[in-house]
Amino acid sequence: MDKIIIRGGRPLHGEIEVSGAKNAALPFLFAALLTEEECRFTNIPRVVDIRTALHLLTELGVEAEWRDDNEVVLRAPSVRHLEAPYELVKTMRASFLVLGPLLTRFGRARVSTPGGCAIGTRPVDIHLAGLQQLGAEIRLQEGYVEATASRLRGARISLDFPSVGATENLMMAATLADGPSQIENAACEPEIVALQTLLNAMGARVSGAGGPVIRIDGVARLYGAEQRVIPDRVEAGTFLIAGAMTSGQVFVRGARAEHLDAFVQKLRATGIGLEIEADGIAVTGDERPSRVDVITWPYPGFPTDLQAQMMALLTLGDGRSLITETVFENRFMHAQELTRLGADIHIRHNTAAVNGVAMLSGAPVMATDLRASVSLILAGLAARGKTEVSRVYHLDRGYEKIEEKLSQLGADIRRVSAEKDGTAEERRRTVV
Ligand code: UD1
Repeated sequence: MDKIIIRGGRPLHGEIEVSGAKNAALPFLFAALLTEEECRFTNIPRVVDIRTALHLLTELGVEAEWRDDNEVVLRAPSVRHLEAPYELVKTMRASFLVLGPLLTRFGRARVSTPGGCAIGTRPVDIHLAGLQQLGAEIRLQEGYVEATASRLRGARISLDFPSVGATENLMMAATLADGPSQIENAACEPEIVALQTLLNAMGARVSGAGGPVIRIDGVARLYGAEQRVIPDRVEAGTFLIAGAMTSGQVFVRGARAEHLDAFVQKLRATGIGLEIEADGIAVTGDERPSRVDVITWPYPGFPTDLQAQMMALLTLGDGRSLITETVFENRFMHAQELTRLGADIHIRHNTAAVNGVAMLSGAPVMATDLRASVSLILAGLAARGKTEVSRVYHLDRGYEKIEEKLSQLGADIRRVSAEKDGTAEERRRTVV
């Protein structure tokens, strides 16, 4: 198990490029199941979640290969199995996105339920209710969802909650259904818009993504397509906070302000200087951030995936900030680790009261989930002294070459493999 070691307190300076969005790339990979023709995707980040998805797809019988650093080509003329096993689904909840495409194209699928995870119980009831409305017969057996339908029928589906994954699964399922479908109270995230663009490039007829009502006219078949993955808004937000927390000056190339509106507004409310440019966002952090309250909400609200990073920033705020998490039920595990670095945080139900301190100081801490781990990296960059973050496999699920990118900005950060700790063999790249 690797660790990341940071010697903090150095202001970050320079330019950093945002990778492709993992959360947009994953549904792209699963959408390749909808056609027998070749799909080619560029700007795919080389992170562990993508490797897990490709592993699952090749287990099903999909031909998948990396053509270039960030380019993947997939072909699914047929599939060997219509089953996604527990071992793979449990490691990544997004694997559940195989269900809609397999069912709509092949009439049958057996997919393990993802089960709980560190940030909550995370059920899949909204996915299943939607598929039933599209005419699927669903049985739950031995931890697996068994779904069948000779051909799905278009339907009007109103989601109980604008779940990102359920919206994506149902959009994909409805592309090959018989007749029109409408998904109401749909998730509005930029990744949903990106999926609509891909599906339409494959010959689907989808409109409305980005708003709460998505319309899909079912077609008989879909075709191959090429598509570039949008930049990762969560990674972009993370780097903006890194610049701000270290009193640095950083240009985040590829950051799209239109995907980060709620976040940009909150950052500005703390007094941090942001310059929105056509090809990215520049941040300048020179003073203590002012206190600010944050409530996470589905898009276009403040993203839950930037909550931990915002908490790291506000540990150094001037006053008491309240952070309320409404999307996930247990997403404050980073708070306890941040307190090991000197932060003053008190949690009550789904609200964290963060009393800003003048300074953090380095300590050993442990990552608990993907965004939690990056919040510890951010705090470590700002803290005086040495911070050691263990269990960084969580980080590798979603951040591409993070030590390399932060080093380029002047951070003193390196990866060591735990068993070689002391002799400290450095691995600056995550090889996926
Ligand atoms: C996606 C993102 C994740 C992000 C989340 C919310 C990907 C691969 N992951 O996850 O990074 O944090 O959106 O922005 O895109 N829920 C139900 N029943 C369901 C489905 C969801 O109760 O059938 C609940 C979940 O438990 C959770 C909330 O709805 O509390 C949001 O989940 P959802 O929007 O589905 O998130 P994911 O698609 O899993």
